Amino acid sequence: MRKIGIINSGGDAQGLNAVIASAVQTGIKKDLKFVGFIKGWEGMLDKNYIDLGAEQVRGISHVGGTILHTVNKGRFVGKQGGGEMGKIPTEILELAKKNLEEIGVDSLLVIGGDGTLSGAVQLADYGVNIIGVPKTIDNDLNSTEQTFGFSTAVDVVTEALDRIHTTAVSHDRVIFVETMGRNVGWIALHAGLAGGADAILIPEFEFEYESLVNFLKWRKNIGRNYSVVVVSEGAKAKNEGVATSSVGAAEKDRPEIKLAGASDRIMRKIDELAPEQFEMRNVVLGHIQRGGSPNAQDRILSKKYGSYAIEALLEGKFGHMVSLQNGKMTTIPIEEAVKGVRVVNEETPEYQTAKRLGVFFN
Ligand code: F6P
Repeated sequence: MRKIGIINSGGDAQGLNAVIASAVQTGIKKDLKFVGFIKGWEGMLDKNYIDLGAEQVRGISHVGGTILHTVNKGRFVGKQGGGEMGKIPTEILELAKKNLEEIGVDSLLVIGGDGTLSGAVQLADYGVNIIGVPKTIDNDLNSTEQTFGFSTAVDVVTEALDRIHTTAVSHDRVIFVETMGRNVGWIALHAGLAGGADAILIPEFEFEYESLVNFLKWRKNIGRNYSVVVVSEGAKAKNEGVATSSVGAAEKDRPEIKLAGASDRIMRKIDELAPEQFEMRNVVLGHIQRGGSPNAQDRILSKKYGSYAIEALLEGKFGHMVSLQNGKMTTIPIEEAVKGVRVVNEETPEYQTAKRLGVFFN
């Protein structure tokens, strides 16, 4: 009986458990056996894994997080800062291959974003059978139409914006709301449009502080005494670097810088440029966007990814990632999948709609 290893690595995303469950449920019907590695690649390198059968995956699809736990750092780092491919040392690749052979795993299902899949490419080149499944709430993978977790994150931010709105209006305040998204503004753009934000600041469009101040003043002058400004964590003004923070344990092993503080920085700068003109508050939504149950759309998408990954595996499409194209599941080489990041641009329909509605971007 073939044994398949499941690995999820990097930040969690709503729907991960649904991917795992649907892969196992699909696979056991085809006489496959499964193990799940704990804490991503680290579990594979330490031979820390659990058996995954019908019993272990029952009732988990609607639950957030991942039963396999996860980390976004460690010995198997495939990419530095979302950019250059980081080379995984040969002894680590060798250890991975040896452990998989000893456990009797003949193929791996690797669920991850850009960084995880860049590691997967190198292990695949080293001779391990791998099928990739895309994962990130940021929705920034060029190679698939939508990643699971994104829709739920957008729902969470939209609901938050509805709540922020009423209190902003009551108090005549400018409220900044910081969202996740790393170097792309998809969550901020979609939720900002859905939640009626007055300004949306995203990494793709560097803004000018003076223009933002003028926009807020203009709103006040026409009697709109409140404003809701959505700030994607990687947003920055022209000639400014991203706002970062590094606190806590083992941040030195982390391949990517931690983005944090963008909205607070903008609020303080506005206060400097227009002293005491606006009453302002700052709300950082943080990991609320990644926690909790997946919405219906993400559950369905995750189930599609998980079960199709098994089809791809049975067809021997190793070195490929399952991908959503024109609403249908297909596969593409993982190498291609990690090449480009999908960014918001002037052709993006949601951007164009927001612009027509008078939303401030830059
Ligand atoms: O990539 C997903 C993501 O949630 C980003 O939006 C965010 O910048 C990052 O992960 C946060 O990572 P961590 O959970 O390590 O703080």
